[in-house]
Amino acid sequence: MLKDTIAALKAAPADPIIGISERFQKDPRKEKVNLTVGNYLGPDGKIPLQATVQEAQRRLLEQRTVHSYLPIEGLKGFCDAVDVLSFGSESEVLLSGRSATCQAVGGTGALYLGGVFAKETLGISHAAVPDPTWGNHIALFKKGGLELSQYAYYDRTSGCVNVEGLLEDLRRLPERSLVLLQVCCHNPTGMDLTHEDWRQVLEVVREKDHLAFLDMAYQGFAQGLQEDAWPVRLFADAGVDFLLSVSLSKGFSIYGERTGTLTVVVQSEAEAQVVHTLLRRHIRALYSNPPRWGAMVAELILNDEELKKAWEQEVEEMRLRVRTMREGLDREGKKQGVSLDFALKQNGIFSFTGFTPQEMERLRTEFGVYGIDSGRIAMAGLTEPVLAHVAGAFAAVLKAR
Ligand SMILES: Cc1ncc(COP(=O)(O)O)c(C=O)c1O
Repeated sequence: MLKDTIAALKAAPADPIIGISERFQKDPRKEKVNLTVGNYLGPDGKIPLQATVQEAQRRLLEQRTVHSYLPIEGLKGFCDAVDVLSFGSESEVLLSGRSATCQAVGGTGALYLGGVFAKETLGISHAAVPDPTWGNHIALFKKGGLELSQYAYYDRTSGCVNVEGLLEDLRRLPERSLVLLQVCCHNPTGMDLTHEDWRQVLEVVREKDHLAFLDMAYQGFAQGLQEDAWPVRLFADAGVDFLLSVSLSKGFSIYGERTGTLTVVVQSEAEAQVVHTLLRRHIRALYSNPPRWGAMVAELILNDEELKKAWEQEVEEMRLRVRTMREGLDREGKKQGVSLDFALKQNGIFSFTGFTPQEMERLRTEFGVYGIDSGRIAMAGLTEPVLAHVAGAFAAVLKAR
């Protein structure tokens, strides 16, 4: 009987990050620090409401925007503007029209849609993601029906990217695999590929006829908006077909608005037009059409010269704040007689500390410093007043090794 089946269901395991955050909330200590969060936080410890977003929202409300459906593929002005941000205004891909971009339900939705397109439309059956990676990459591709493996990425002993292992694993994959590559600010390690590494990855992708799936969720948080898109432009210039997911969640601090895009780069405008119809078919069956508010806000900002300039400045300020926290942690570590220079080698809002789960637990119980078991800490959870305390806690754990 169905009712017996339902009665026998077991609850899904609790999300480990949420469990740790709950412990943090209950911790009465004044000096506690929450480094589990996945969002950019400002110096006041809050998700910012960016002035450009506020201004765009004011204008949109004044225009009495109605809540009609968007087209299946989303807002064209938004998709075009995100394309320029990703590929550059002079991009041959854009000028020749050999890409199909659809709005997606955040970066997550873009990844899922791309997985479904690869599996159902292109007949690709295997996907590979870095080890380690953002946990949802694995869940999303599995849900999309792809077999999954992980390729070598981070070497815990050296604290560096294992480039040789990575290339070898990509060579060993079945031909025509979907290969997920994080463009910058690798989640969770913060360690990115160098330009030379990217060139080598591109060669293997070509050799093995893989389909690269570039995931760009943190554009602007590593070296700058243009610099961070370099790998996208490398693949575009190379003339290979590839997928690109873009999340606008972090850059505009519009996490809950579910704003992103999926782009499929192909060989010609005619191919792109066909692909666009096929993406629309998938979207229609998955969620009919995308949410509108975040896309309208980003469209307005990116297509207004003054607002766009101000927004670029806001992204730069977020990037520099995280950079300053990285330098601060390194500086305070030196004062405590330990090296925390992992913080300087890494990019973006996350860092891998190299601490074991036991060491992460000691940081919580003894010092009230809350990261997650993998050793990942959120750099944006740091502020100037807590740097010395966090560095002191790290130093105590390192010295006990
Ligand atoms: C690497 C990576 N890709 C994609 C996403 C998804 O972005 P969104 O929140 O827009 O769905 C995230 C979010 O944390 C991420 O870290």
